[in-house]
Amino acid sequence: MAIQHEREAWLFADRERCERSDLTPVRPLRLVLLGAPGAGKGTQAELIAERFGACQLSTGDMFRAAKRSHDDQLTPAMEAALRSMQQGQLVSDDTVVELVGERRHCLSCPYGFMLDGFPRTVNQARVLDQFLADRDIALDAVVNYTLPMEAVVRRLSGRRTCENCKTTFHIETKPPRAEGVCDKCGGRLYQREDDNPESIRVRLRAYEESTAPLADYYAHQGLLRIVSAEGDPETVFGHTCAALGLRKAG
Ligand code: AP5
Repeated sequence: MAIQHEREAWLFADRERCERSDLTPVRPLRLVLLGAPGAGKGTQAELIAERFGACQLSTGDMFRAAKRSHDDQLTPAMEAALRSMQQGQLVSDDTVVELVGERRHCLSCPYGFMLDGFPRTVNQARVLDQFLADRDIALDAVVNYTLPMEAVVRRLSGRRTCENCKTTFHIETKPPRAEGVCDKCGGRLYQREDDNPESIRVRLRAYEESTAPLADYYAHQGLLRIVSAEGDPETVFGHTCAALGLRKAG
């Protein structure tokens, strides 16, 4: 996969940046990934993208990209969003829906998508249903990753992320070859500002209150697939493929 501009197309709401001519579309996969912060949604999204081509559409990455690229000209709504994020609280539904709405062309991608971090409330899920219905598109499944709390905290505390390509590492379980440097692109690795003990506590509470009810919402639609996030990333990827009825491509 030589050309992959789909992340920029999503991050910057710029349709022109999407070039995926190197891939032959197969049947598109259209997924929502749920699970507590740190359960490994982003890690699995990277593996699914590599093997099956679907684009990772992460709302967290979208906010972090906005912060990096427009620091001096942020709108008041975006400033409020970034403050909420830093503290571990959810961004308001209005802001999230507006920003996802600007990028909704990504839902029609012939390679499919994995929504990572959206929806996060039942209100957002209803909006997503409408975006999909407007395009005559249906979700294949909603994968809910489960992991005990102690493991969640361990994963978040050791996470390092590439400033440039957003690949995630872990200081114990997935260390980079050279400390502080991304294996994939050579970018600088940093620790997310919301991966501190106080923000982690707030994020886990927000997850229990607002995001966990989404599992019921999607169970009622017959879309929910519960997948254990215990084990190394390849093991979890195997569980994910099995839950989705996919052959684990090599
Ligand atoms: P977001 O960026 O979506 O963060 P999150 O949901 O808190 O999820 P994370 O990215 O922290 O975890 P992950 O499950 O992707 O784990 P990862 O794969 O990195 O959102 C951030 C904030 O933005 C929110 O708090 C909110 O403020 C705001 N926001 C975003 N969307 C919003 C919305 N829709 N509505 C309102 N607000 C919104 O893995 C974690 C670590 O574990 C890594 O180091 C990784 O290497 C390691 N790891 C992963 N899998 C394994 C494994 N199997 N074994 C060992 N280590 C592993």
